[in-house]
Amino acid sequence: MNLSSEANSSPLIELRSVSKTYGSAEPVAALHPMDLRIEPSERVAIVGPSGSGKTSLLNLLGLLDRPTTGAVYLAGREVSSLPEPELCAARSHEIGFVFQQFFLLEHLNAVENVEQALLYTGATRRSRVAVAVRAMDRVGLAHRLRHKPSQLSGGERQRVAIARAIAGDPSLILADEPTGNLDTQTGATILSVLTESAEDATTVVVVTHDPGVAAAMDRRIEIVDGRITRDIRVGAR
Ligand SMILES: Nc1ncnc2c1ncn2[C@@H]1O[C@H](COP(=O)(O)OP(=O)(O)O)[C@@H](O)[C@H]1O
Ligand SMILES: [Mg+2]
Repeated sequence: MNLSSEANSSPLIELRSVSKTYGSAEPVAALHPMDLRIEPSERVAIVGPSGSGKTSLLNLLGLLDRPTTGAVYLAGREVSSLPEPELCAARSHEIGFVFQQFFLLEHLNAVENVEQALLYTGATRRSRVAVAVRAMDRVGLAHRLRHKPSQLSGGERQRVAIARAIAGDPSLILADEPTGNLDTQTGATILSVLTESAEDATTVVVVTHDPGVAAAMDRRIEIVDGRITRDIRVGAR
């Protein structure tokens, strides 16, 4: 569900003076106060050493977590202080996630896993299945609809996870080390599947250790010790 044109003058997602500290007895400052604007249709890589705050940042961009200070805006609307049900609705409608561990349900086949992610739409099962089948086709898995996750390779499981993330046509797709569990060749393929299957208008943000992945995106944000140390446009597209 890409956002309406009136929202197009705003960044798709914006952090204003956002910081994240975990715990109170022995607080860990995972992210120091930062500003960040990501525009509609940008393809962004977030890179940095382990423990630098990449996942913390992605969780804030994905409305999975709330900032300790500052505010998060989605298409110009302040979302970080919304009540949980509204935050959850914004997340379901606007954001697709791809995680390193896939998080597929083992008792469901591939197309059912994708269809599950569309329950929030309130569409009939029949139309959910049709949308899920189309998403499976977009990731090149039209021939694996009825396979259970255990019957798929790592690369195929990750494609199902991508199909699940793109099926609802979100405004923003977030991926945390989506190639981390895959061999290099498969990992490179997965990333092109992710960027190519997403609609052109969709914003894609990928956390990655892989310099090849970062090079395929059009902006690279480097994080060290909870601070953005570089933010460069690579101009891959
Ligand atoms: N839930 C949590 N509770 C306490 N500390 C956390 C939590 N999540 C992450 N951290 C700490 O915050 C810092 C950043 O973590 P993270 O965002 O996961 O980094 P990265 O994804 O770059 O490896 C690390 O020092 C980590 O130990
Ligand atoms: Mg991480």
